[in-house]
Amino acid sequence: MVHTRCHLITYGCQMNEYDTHLVQSQLVSLGADIVSSVDEADVVLVNTCAVRGKPVEKVRSLLGDLRKIKARRPLVIGMMGCLAQLDEGQQIARAFGVDILLGPGSLLDIGKALEGNERFWALHFRDDLHAHVPPPPQGTLQAHLTIMRGCDHHCTYCIVPTTRGPQVSRSPDDILRELDGMLAAGVQEVTLLGQNVNAYGVDQGARLAGYPSFAQLLRQVGRSGVRRVKFTTSHPMNFTEDVAAAMADTPAICEFIHLPVQSGSDRVLRRMAREYTREQYLKHVADIRRHLPHAVMATDIIVGFPGETEQDFQDTLDLYDEVGFDSAYMFIYSPRPGTPSYTHFSDLPRDVKTERLGRLVARQKDWSARKNAAKVGTVQEVLLRGAAHDSGFLEGHTRGSHPTVVPRAAGADGPGIYPVRIDHATPHVLYGRVLDAQGQERPLLNFPEAGQQRPEAAALVSPLPMA
Ligand code: SAH
Ligand code: SF4
Ligand code: F3S
Repeated sequence: MVHTRCHLITYGCQMNEYDTHLVQSQLVSLGADIVSSVDEADVVLVNTCAVRGKPVEKVRSLLGDLRKIKARRPLVIGMMGCLAQLDEGQQIARAFGVDILLGPGSLLDIGKALEGNERFWALHFRDDLHAHVPPPPQGTLQAHLTIMRGCDHHCTYCIVPTTRGPQVSRSPDDILRELDGMLAAGVQEVTLLGQNVNAYGVDQGARLAGYPSFAQLLRQVGRSGVRRVKFTTSHPMNFTEDVAAAMADTPAICEFIHLPVQSGSDRVLRRMAREYTREQYLKHVADIRRHLPHAVMATDIIVGFPGETEQDFQDTLDLYDEVGFDSAYMFIYSPRPGTPSYTHFSDLPRDVKTERLGRLVARQKDWSARKNAAKVGTVQEVLLRGAAHDSGFLEGHTRGSHPTVVPRAAGADGPGIYPVRIDHATPHVLYGRVLDAQGQERPLLNFPEAGQQRPEAAALVSPLPMA
């Protein structure tokens, strides 16, 4: 294992990114070297996603490329994560000569897997996954903190409960210990992760086991000294008003909420088994806005769910206008083998689904443009991560997770949180200038005079999709 050169590739959501870090730190503690390309690697580990057909296709094509390389030189290929847990993934693994296969609950078997020369497959759910998470490197600004794994819902379209198993919440002590390590490393923004963070603790008999509610946990994290706290994902079924209250009364908790609605039609919501109605969803939105009038709202929507009529789709567009989402991840329904909707419902024609997605994307773009335009002239607290693709600029994001771009300014060329006055907005990006403590613009460094061309958003930042 010592000096084995490992390269890790991640598909999927933030939970997979967190898991990749888990595996990476395990490898480092065992003496392996982490390398940044396949060319330098003896071992390539692919952390996979199975939520829709597209990520599965991406994995298939990557494994095809890796197999070609393996035909020319020794290479160990590992497949980890959600797809690895499924029959579909195991068939792919066999077809592409995968040596190591680790489900999302078996990631820490990576050491054992690399010890021998045998093919190694592990698909059990270990309960010590988070036992030895080392703190992030000094100077890390942003970190993800998984507070629960798995999911106890059974949305009819979704493969996640099969890939990640039932919900298991981590103990509050364990979470706060990991948070302490992050704070000591200088982390300024922490995002609490789970498939349904509002149900935190429910699997442990919650209050009986002495677990805090999610709102209580949020407050504890918010008072730890970290500058910003975010969380994802909130399931409307388990959302409670005390979460909105915690967001309002704890300054570190960002006024940003990702509350996936999936559809605006009660008929479709029922067929999805989402366990809430349109009215209940709108009540949550009203509660959030009462506590936080300027809350930034994001959602997920699936278009073209089996049986979705034009009227159902119109209901989604109407709900969209009623809420006025700042941003949305919009997906075409993708039938996943092993889910109830795959087995029992028939898929709509591709062109119907694509046409509806086009209309929804256009509607969302209008809303994002409107919402972002309203930010022009305001001062936003922006976490600047570093240079944008065009190195005359820095990129980062607001408390509401808007991608933001600023020209380099004297005193603001290091990563950190800065006040930024927004002076221009597109539907996807805010542009502004860094201010000093007196609220004055900082002098620019190596930047063309005002009025000169602004780089196009697409060239600067890439969106950060959930999956
Ligand atoms: N636990 C989260 C979502 C996790 S999956 C929640 O319930 O909110 C992320 C998103 O992928 C979902 O919100 C849904 O919009 C989308 N998704 C899941 N399965 C899908 C499928 N079969 N086809 C299309 N989109 C899907
Ligand atoms: Fe999937 Fe539903 Fe669980 Fe979210 S809540 S992970 S959509 S089953
Ligand atoms: Fe798994 Fe996340 Fe994809 S939970 S299926 S990697 S969206």
